[in-house]
Parts: sequence; C-alpha cells; structure tokens
Amino acid sequence: MENRINGLRRFLDASHSVYHARAWVEEELKSRGFTELSEADAWSLVPGGQYYVTRGGTALIAFRIPQGSPTGFLMSAAHTDRPCFKLKENYELAGTYTRAAVEGYGGMLMAPWLDRPLSLAGRVFVQTEEGLEEKLIDIDRDLLLIPNVAIHMNRQANDGWKWNPAVDTIALVGSKEAAGKLEKLLEQAAGGKILGRDLYLYVRQSSSVWGVDSEYLSAPALDDLECVWCCAQGFLNAGGSRAVGVLCLFDSEEVGSLSCQGADSSLLLQTLQRICGCLGLELPRMLARSFLVSADNAHAVHPNHPELADPANAPTLGGGVVVKYNASGRYCTDGFSGAVFRRLCQKAGVPVQSYHNRADIPGGSTLGRISLAQVSVSTVDIGLAQLAMHSCYETAAVRDALALEDAMTAYYSATLERRDGIWKFQ
Ligand code: CO
Repeated sequence: MENRINGLRRFLDASHSVYHARAWVEEELKSRGFTELSEADAWSLVPGGQYYVTRGGTALIAFRIPQGSPTGFLMSAAHTDRPCFKLKENYELAGTYTRAAVEGYGGMLMAPWLDRPLSLAGRVFVQTEEGLEEKLIDIDRDLLLIPNVAIHMNRQANDGWKWNPAVDTIALVGSKEAAGKLEKLLEQAAGGKILGRDLYLYVRQSSSVWGVDSEYLSAPALDDLECVWCCAQGFLNAGGSRAVGVLCLFDSEEVGSLSCQGADSSLLLQTLQRICGCLGLELPRMLARSFLVSADNAHAVHPNHPELADPANAPTLGGGVVVKYNASGRYCTDGFSGAVFRRLCQKAGVPVQSYHNRADIPGGSTLGRISLAQVSVSTVDIGLAQLAMHSCYETAAVRDALALEDAMTAYYSATLERRDGIWKFQ
C-alpha cells in the first residue's frame, strides 16, 4: 500500500504547475513505449499500437489500439489544472518592499494561501538562435509569501473577512533592494530573456500521509491530480481489452473548460476522428458503443459540518470511489452509466458510494458534461471524496486513491458490448 501511494505522492510533489503535471504523465507514457504524435502531421496507426498527442502544453490524450476490430472507445477524462494565482505580465510593484502582482485562476479558498512559503512554476518562451523555445521552469525554493494583516490591525479578521484580490493577495518578493531581481532569477532559470510566460504560484508544502492509522493523504491539487494519476495508472496497468482505450487529460476545467486545451475544445473529437480515419472505422458507430468515465474529485462529508451534506448521499473519506448524481445533468451519471460503473467496481472488489448535492446547496459541475457537447457518449461522473476542495492543501483518503486505480485498471482491461439487448462487461 505504501509503495503504491508513494507513486501518487511523487507525482503530486513534482507537479508544481499544470505544465509539470502533463510532463510527468508524458514521461510515464514514453517510458512504457508510447509513440508521440503531432496534430500537425499525418498519422499512421497500427493494431496493437500505443500513442499520445498533446496540445497547448497542458492537455494530453493517450490511446491504445487493440488487435482485431475495436468494439468501441473506453475513455476516461480528468483535469490537470487547479485554482491558483498567476503572475501578471508586468508583475513588479516597487516601493518600501518589492512585491509581485498576481491574478486569480479559478475559484480558490483564499485564506490558506497566506503566511506560507510559496514559489513559481510554469512555462516560459525564450528567444534562442533557432527561434522561440518553450521551457518549463520551477523555482524550487521558498521564494514568496503573502502576509496576513495582524489581528491588532484587523479586528474583524475572524468575523467573516472579505478578501480583496487587488490588495490582499499581492505577494512579497523582498526589500526595496530586490527590485528587478525576481525577473533576473526567472531569466536565469529560463536561460534567456522571457518573451512569454504562464507562471503560477504554488505552495511549498509537499504531500503528507497522516492520521492515527496513516489513513489520510494531504497535498496541493488533489482536485484533480489524484484522478489524473489513478486514471493514468489504470490505463497503463491494463491489458486485454478489445476496445480502444483512451486517456484524456484536459486543462481549463477550473475556468469553464473553453480553451484550445480544455474539455470544450476540438481535441478529443478530432483525435477520435483521426483514429477512425486511420483504422477505417465509422465514428458515429464507434461512439454508440463507447463509454466515458469523467473523473473529478467529490466532496466528502465534513467532520465539523455534516449538515452541509445530503443526508443519505454523503461520501466519507475512505468509503470508496464516489459516483456523482444530479437530476439536472450537472453530473452526467444516469441509471445506465451508473450501473455499468458499479458492476465494474463490483468485479474489481472496489467499494462505491453515492453523491448528491444537498438540494438547497447547488454544487459545481465538471468536465464530463462539457466534453459531451463535443463527443456525445454514455458518461459516468465519478471522483474521490475529499475535504477542503479548492484550498491550496486538500485532504483525501489513501485507501480511496488505491481503490480508484484498481477500478480504472479493471475498466481499461474490460470490453463493453451489447448483445441481445443486454450490456455485458467482459
Ligand atoms: Co476538479
């Protein structure tokens, strides 16, 4: 158990930005013999082949073609991005101190970001002799901090404080004398003058396994890197399916998924079209026999606020993989897709629990619903129960992550077929 969870922890601790998360999975695919494809080139795919394509530096689709005629696509999707702060283009604010201005990305809990060491990671573009070169950088040391105001100067701090993102979240870089030094440091890491940047703040605290029985896992970005890892491991561990296994990692979920590399982009549809084109298959017929597991973390019942959860559909930490339901379709699970997934988990020996929002507390939606607009297939929305979603340090259960990895291994090893009006998983 410890070994398996250490794999996830290494991934979490290395993925300081959305770019680094994609790079980690890409390395993993390469080491297992997957061939990189470029969207700009012609593709030639062969039965038994394993491939992947990336877009925008943050989205990745990997797929494995079976021997023989494919029965459909068995897909999963998770997101690589997280709510955080992005460095502004002209970020430096000089004065008594040198500070760095940031902009919020996604809906984060503000308070946990304050009073803790932060750093910067992401990608930059530098001019080299050959042209513009993309580089991933990670200033892997305590570098910045967003200081709170002392209680003596803000007596309302514990009475429901309203954060002003234009004032309260500017990061401290150094003294007056530090002016210009952060850019020099970034240039040093980039190896040249920076012409374009997508750099994000991250918290320096690494992952932790804790609790009396070491049952909990805390780390930044568990939503949704936990699902990214479980889906990727399941995809890589699996074998024997007669379907085309497809692993989709999308960016931009926390800001609505509409970007070239989000779930609301053309990436998945075009990739499936090209697979069908290369193999002489008809896409609509393939889609009618396909399935998508949309994997994004879910809210566990809160230890101090059980009243916020639905009374009968409140997942607990450690209770198993969560299937999410919503009558209005914010989650895509219906009777059929829920049943398919439950059967699969049953076969894999994985416990399942159900989630509904409390009826008077509307919850979020996720990438499954959005990718349906592009590629319409039967979909189940699932996730892992966690606390403090969108905090910069979130908490889940060790046991659940391993359960989802097992469920995804079973999923990608299976073949879903309809015979005599009955759906069968083999
Ligand atoms: Co999420």
